[in-house]
Amino acid sequence: SSSSSLVGINTIRALLADTLNEIFIDNNSEQSPPSTTPHQRYTLRDAMVTPATKPEFGDYQCNAAMSLSKKLGYKNPRECAQQIVNALQPKLDGIMELPLEVAGPGFINLKLDCAYLSKALGEMAADSAGRLAVPLTDNKKKVVVDFSSPNIAKEMHVGHLRSTIIGDTLSNVLTFAGHDVLRLNHVGDWGTQFGMLVEHLRDEYPEALLNNNQDVDLGDLVTLYKAAKKRFDVDEEFKVRAREGVVKLQAGDAESLAAWESLCRASRVEYQKIYDRLNIVGLHERGESFYNPFLEGVVTELQNLGLAVESEGATAVFLEGYANRDGSPLPMLVRKSDGGFNYATTDLAAVRHRVQFDPNEGGEKADRVLYVTDAGQSQHFEMVFAAAKKAGFVPDTVSLEHVPFGLVQGEDGKKFATRSGDTVKLKDLLDEAVRIAGEDIKSRMADHPGESELTDALSDVAKTVGIGAVKYADLSMNRESNYKFSYGRMLSLNGNTAPYMLYAYARICGIVRKATGQSEENKIIWPEAASTILITHDSEKQLVRNLVKLPDILSEVEMELYPNRLCDYLFETSQKFNQVIMKLPSVAILALTAGTAAAFAPVAQIRSSSSSTSSSHLRAVSKKDSYQI
Ligand code: ARG
Repeated sequence: SSSSSLVGINTIRALLADTLNEIFIDNNSEQSPPSTTPHQRYTLRDAMVTPATKPEFGDYQCNAAMSLSKKLGYKNPRECAQQIVNALQPKLDGIMELPLEVAGPGFINLKLDCAYLSKALGEMAADSAGRLAVPLTDNKKKVVVDFSSPNIAKEMHVGHLRSTIIGDTLSNVLTFAGHDVLRLNHVGDWGTQFGMLVEHLRDEYPEALLNNNQDVDLGDLVTLYKAAKKRFDVDEEFKVRAREGVVKLQAGDAESLAAWESLCRASRVEYQKIYDRLNIVGLHERGESFYNPFLEGVVTELQNLGLAVESEGATAVFLEGYANRDGSPLPMLVRKSDGGFNYATTDLAAVRHRVQFDPNEGGEKADRVLYVTDAGQSQHFEMVFAAAKKAGFVPDTVSLEHVPFGLVQGEDGKKFATRSGDTVKLKDLLDEAVRIAGEDIKSRMADHPGESELTDALSDVAKTVGIGAVKYADLSMNRESNYKFSYGRMLSLNGNTAPYMLYAYARICGIVRKATGQSEENKIIWPEAASTILITHDSEKQLVRNLVKLPDILSEVEMELYPNRLCDYLFETSQKFNQVIMKLPSVAILALTAGTAAAFAPVAQIRSSSSSTSSSHLRAVSKKDSYQI
């Protein structure tokens, strides 16, 4: 309920907007502004509330007076700010330190009050719904998140890994906010390469063309793909058959469809293994083939609207503002000269299907559609979105957003590859991270010299740390920058890494266990939240100020889609927690611990291996002597 929710930045914006309306529109304050220029009612945006630029200034600041002052005829912004302060103050009693301060040329500084901080943290810790008192959105939306999306029978590569990790995390954050999220795996399961693959199966694996082909083993799909491609490149007769093969498949030929199915099935098994290891759940496969029946209609519609035109035998859409290097207009192809459709055609059909609601076609009626792919596809999505809007496929209230990410590079800044220059298989990549984490654990087992095998529990820890490190490394970077893949950095115990976070979490669990006299190593019973949390030391106050900002961080991620903001928040929180530990006797720490541990719930999402991994096992990650609390 709202009474037990935290006051986040949006609540403050709303209070400020109300205040502005009261004094400047409804004029029910004691003093009217010098001039009452008509203005539309003030919105959250007009409140101009941002996080404080420096912690000394407080927690938030309001910059509204700077722009309003002149319009409303004040002598200077400070005078305007003072009038806002007079009306705002009573609303913030019990939340902010009063009296409010007008600073510099006319900023209003807002500093969370100690009584509020302890009450808010108490609510976070006591929230039995597991929401840490974070309010649910009051603007629930249907959101489609298109992510992962590997291509059938081709290698699932590090770009798909990034898409999977970022897309899954964004979906989690949106779901937590209370939105209705549909996770779609837009797999590349249609297109010209299937002609060649199906014809290759016809020759090499004829069983795959039969109706009853469930048990056919196609071996390694990448090898199969390479073999088919090789024939396509050198064998003219095969090439012709492959071209005709696509047409046959798309026309619904039973044998071709059976072969195609067997390829999809085999691919699915492979990428499901990766999803299982990364703990990706609820991802719904709806590949390109799904939109096949709509492609023809999309092109016809674009033609009827005059948007699609013939161009060198093909059909293309020309959009304003898109040109080739030589200045000639850049076409977006929607039908090839041989009649086949393009990547863009499928995406146009997909946009329409996702945002429209046609009971006969079962659309999704989404309010927001996110596409998580590498930045190299930015122009493709810009053009698809622009064409879809022009064609009237997209209602004004709907937003289509490309969520681009940078390239994964090797430590040398070059293309990420194995030593022999081949693409790195995702399975090998994950295995290697887990192996290095395991080696690290072994090297720390000083009390068991010579032990070469990890116990089951410790290899479980290695999995958690290794997979967690890969995921967290991806999330903690600004997604738009290119990122250098380094096992050393991602598995380091120092810095903003998964091992550091897991260590911080394990340490918190250790404190609770000791302070409450629990001896059971494998599970931990959280104490009842303290009824009153006293904030006495400054380090405590800094920690709590950070903790209660969780709603702000989550709503920022929800809007702007940068998961690294959440990672930064967690990292700062653990650093502030360590400050408390260094400065206070351990008994005083307990009250804060429950709240801090609660804020670590997102780490539990990042941890990926089996739930049986206990926090106490994670202690093995830390150096024995530094683990003394
Ligand atoms: N299969 C594509 C690739 O591997 C990604 C698809 C992204 N989603 C979309 N709707 N186009 O690059």
